[in-house]
Amino acid sequence: MTPRPPAQLIDRFGRVVDYLRISITDRCDFRCVYCMAEDMTFLPRAQILSLEEIYVIAQAFTELGVKKIRITGGEPLVRKDALSLLNNIGQLDGLKELVITTNGSQLDTMSAALKAAGVKRINISLDTLDAAKFKVITRTGDLQKVLDGIQAAKSTGFERIKINAVILKDRNHDEVCDLVQFAVDNGIDISFIEEMPLGVVSKHDRSEAYYSSFMIKQDLAQRFNLIASMEKTGGPSNYFTVADTQTRVGFISPHSENFCSTCNRVRLTVEGRLLLCLGNEHSVDLKAVLREHPNDTKVLKQTIINAMQIKPEKHEFNIHEQPVILRYMNMTGG
Ligand code: GTP
Ligand code: 5AD
Ligand code: SF4
Repeated sequence: MTPRPPAQLIDRFGRVVDYLRISITDRCDFRCVYCMAEDMTFLPRAQILSLEEIYVIAQAFTELGVKKIRITGGEPLVRKDALSLLNNIGQLDGLKELVITTNGSQLDTMSAALKAAGVKRINISLDTLDAAKFKVITRTGDLQKVLDGIQAAKSTGFERIKINAVILKDRNHDEVCDLVQFAVDNGIDISFIEEMPLGVVSKHDRSEAYYSSFMIKQDLAQRFNLIASMEKTGGPSNYFTVADTQTRVGFISPHSENFCSTCNRVRLTVEGRLLLCLGNEHSVDLKAVLREHPNDTKVLKQTIINAMQIKPEKHEFNIHEQPVILRYMNMTGG
């Protein structure tokens, strides 16, 4: 193996970027109310990166010091041939962790193949354990299929499995203890997420639906003893351990506890846009660079290095106003 080059992706605030999130499709078999409009139109094929192009960009990033790649969507596992891409990315020199965030709907059949492709950890979205509520939140999802997917992932034996739960007041806030109990019973982790205002949603008022990590912690304290942990996964979760269990409970608190000062990540959209921050529109069109210089990854790499100069200091989310970012979450996978 070739020795690792020094970190080359450093922004104006001295933050080293070593985590790339790649959205490999904007499509999804669910329509979660906080993520999409009901009548979404998806990108035409000509506008999206091919799997080969995604691979070339991923390789450029690992050569520039990226150690962790997370595959997201939409729902990444609905893209045809996602597995062959994962297989190829999993073999990149210098990559320490290939991970994926999924809605779990395909895991009952795809778990083993994901592990074989080199996926180390898997994050699965699950906001409720009530089938009727699950239908309301995801609009099209089937809870049992996701629960089967979680069991399949457990049997496959990933290093860690984590549930992601977006908590909304009067939708699922009363389930936080049950969700932690579910994680404990299954020997897996869970992160609670404060909803972020991306795109216009129709089913709830984001300001009224806000349920802070602080309130969740108060609710959990009634039933669990949470012990602060220094563990980090390279993502924005702040972790606690449930006493006497293997389960970690994370809190992702973009509103109540800004984590931007330690940001180590950028995102690639399926259109080939390198997005420097989830909560801002600063971006560079890598698809154009790649298609203009198909046989010269030097230009691509220099473009990526230069892009670090426009990485914003922080997001400016405000749930009390109309969203400034009109892009829906499915364009970036979170
Ligand atoms: P781990 O590797 O397990 O730590 O995962 P992760 O938290 O990095 O990734 P995941 O896909 O599970 O994302 C969980 C939530 O964190 C999603 O709602 C993301 O939108 C949110 N998130 C991840 N990175 C950022 C970020 O840079 N800014 C903001 N505001 N939210 C983020
Ligand atoms: N705010 C916070 N989290 C969101 N997710 C999707 N949309 C939003 C939003 N508006 C979550 C999904 C998934 C993760 C990648 O992002 O539930 O678990
Ligand atoms: Fe699909 Fe994930 Fe968005 Fe839900 S949050 S609609 S599962 S992309």
